[in-house]
Amino acid sequence: MAVLDVADDAVSAEAETAPAVSVDNIDVRFGSGDAAVTALKGVSVDIPDGAFVTMLGPSGCGKSTLLRAIADLVPTAKGEIRVHGRTPEEARKSRDFAFVFQDATLLPWRSAIDNVKLPLEVGDPGPAHADPKELLDLVGLSGRENALPAELSGGMRQRVAIARALVTRPRILLMDEPFGALDEITRDKLNEELLRIWQETGTTILFVTHSIPEAAFLGQKVLVLAAHPGRVKEFMPVKLPFPRHLAMRDTMEFIEITAHLRQLLEEC
Ligand SMILES: Nc1ncnc2c1ncn2[C@@H]1O[C@H](COP(=O)(O)OP(=O)(O)OP(=O)(O)O)[C@@H](O)[C@H]1O
Ligand SMILES: [Mg+2]
Repeated sequence: MAVLDVADDAVSAEAETAPAVSVDNIDVRFGSGDAAVTALKGVSVDIPDGAFVTMLGPSGCGKSTLLRAIADLVPTAKGEIRVHGRTPEEARKSRDFAFVFQDATLLPWRSAIDNVKLPLEVGDPGPAHADPKELLDLVGLSGRENALPAELSGGMRQRVAIARALVTRPRILLMDEPFGALDEITRDKLNEELLRIWQETGTTILFVTHSIPEAAFLGQKVLVLAAHPGRVKEFMPVKLPFPRHLAMRDTMEFIEITAHLRQLLEEC
């Protein structure tokens, strides 16, 4: 029950507490002149502190660009982004967030635990970093600390990437289709485990996916983007209780939520 309270509070307290990420009317453009692409236009959204927000939208609508703008990897042409009240550059320097990509991008010559330690060797890890061994336990890889990436399955490699992202204790995890390359059963398992990790760590998560059921199952809210130019179509709360279990996907409520999301995407 405590878990349910925490999860619901993150959304209901949205109006009262400062958001983890605040995006205010941003434009992002690539290139110039005739070749210029407006990837995002007038995008505004607040990600509540501690929330799990998923992002859906047609290919090319700017989902990755929005994550990258928050992470200070692409500049904004207009508008403002604040990450816990700071600019994306300040937040990057103080390691407020970590990124997890579709491909785990582990160093092949380093063991699982040495890959997890990597961010601690780059720059100042700060005093509050997590214990790499405990993180591997958290993501379900106890006993596999010394395995090389080539000895691990795709799902296990992605667990290592999640542990690595958490080692600096970021307040925000930015995840860009992290389970997109995995088979359905492995993906389901990692979905449940990611919810558990979110509840145990209190990290704010912004998670991009192409899967409607995944967006609905994981998210307290789903941010739907439309394309050409990339803009917010809807920021929809998912009224399903926590903790969530895979069997919930067979309920009428879940089916109605995914049907609504599908309709929104068809209109994009
Ligand atoms: N570095 C770049 N240079 C030029 N154009 C870019 C760059 N990055 C993205 N774009 C363009 O910006 C738009 C949004 O791209 P983005 O990768 O954010 O889409 P997406 O929603 O993540 O798509 P997908 O679902 O396929 O991953 C696209 O038109 C893309 O071609
Ligand atoms: Mg993308």
